[in-house]
Amino acid sequence: MFHTVLCDLLGIRYPIIQGAMQGAGGPRLVAAVSEAGGLGILPTFGGTEKELRDDIEKTRALTSRPFAVNITPIGRAFTESRAAICIEMGVPIVTTGRGDPGSNIVRKLKEAGTIVLPVVPSVHHALRVEAEGAAAIIASGMEAGGHVGRVSTMPLVPQVVDAVKVPVVAAGGLGDARGLLAALALGACGIQLGTRFIATVESEAAEWIKERLLRTEETGTIISSLMTGKPVRAFATRILREYEQALGHADSAEDRAALRIRYLKELRHAPLEERTMAAGEIVGMIRDIRTVRELIEGIVAEAATLAEKLYRASREEGGRKRLLPGAARERRRAER
Ligand SMILES: Cc1cc2nc3c(=O)[nH]c(=O)nc-3n(C[C@H](O)[C@H](O)[C@H](O)COP(=O)(O)O)c2cc1C
Repeated sequence: MFHTVLCDLLGIRYPIIQGAMQGAGGPRLVAAVSEAGGLGILPTFGGTEKELRDDIEKTRALTSRPFAVNITPIGRAFTESRAAICIEMGVPIVTTGRGDPGSNIVRKLKEAGTIVLPVVPSVHHALRVEAEGAAAIIASGMEAGGHVGRVSTMPLVPQVVDAVKVPVVAAGGLGDARGLLAALALGACGIQLGTRFIATVESEAAEWIKERLLRTEETGTIISSLMTGKPVRAFATRILREYEQALGHADSAEDRAALRIRYLKELRHAPLEERTMAAGEIVGMIRDIRTVRELIEGIVAEAATLAEKLYRASREEGGRKRLLPGAARERRRAER
């Protein structure tokens, strides 16, 4: 029922992607997602070349299904070397995040037969990567955990869908069957989930992170540039709040740089309860740890039931009232 163009493009069963997650998603999670019919993605952010090679090998030992590598363009040399490793090792799919990898990298990957899916925060960026050769685009709203732009998923996805010709995947603030259906209704052909996948048995996130996820409410995240120098949505902590507040009062670039050094040091030496980690607004909905298979199959099965319910309700008198109270009222008025 949910076999979309994304499934054909990537060779996967369900249109569900596990977004790359530095610090939470290594070979075990990636392989589990791919084995369960989705697409798992290995992160590279901050990792060495050897770590990437080892992670690709380890993932291959766990699954023969397709998985991807995410390249975070944190500098030309880093981006080029990680792309070269993906080509050399025959990684079939690459996603990019946080910034633009540059037309040269996308072209090289594409020429080598790699399917490239950049993560973008705006229509402008989507058009650029499409022109550079992206096979599909992941439109990620500011509800997402990790690096974010300024537009929310709900307005971003349909505007990107309208602007580009390649398939679009929705990301940011999605975590269950309702999110999948909503994304499809917005014109996307699949979803990318990050935060929800942290709360799985197979996720490699530290126990304190999983435990924090289960008790954080939807208002418990903050966008801060402290960790990487670019806006990242993460668990709100005293250190992040104070840093962002102090930043608002800093007058010069020197003051801002000094503040970052001071707060980064504090973050490094913080006790466990003061530590932070990237997490999205969907966190308030996550109240259990599941296996990856339970999560993926649960989303697909519930989405099928929900779609059926919506369809039936739209054809029944009572349901029409529930679904479209405004339209039912109008009709009653016209009948009078
Ligand atoms: C802990 C964590 C680490 C992440 N690391 C990366 C990364 O290394 N590269 C990347 O492109 N995106 C990264 N992301 C973003 C995810 O891949 C995904 O796009 C995002 O989490 C989707 O939004 P959601 O958290 O609302 O599901 C990270 C997200 C989280 C929560």
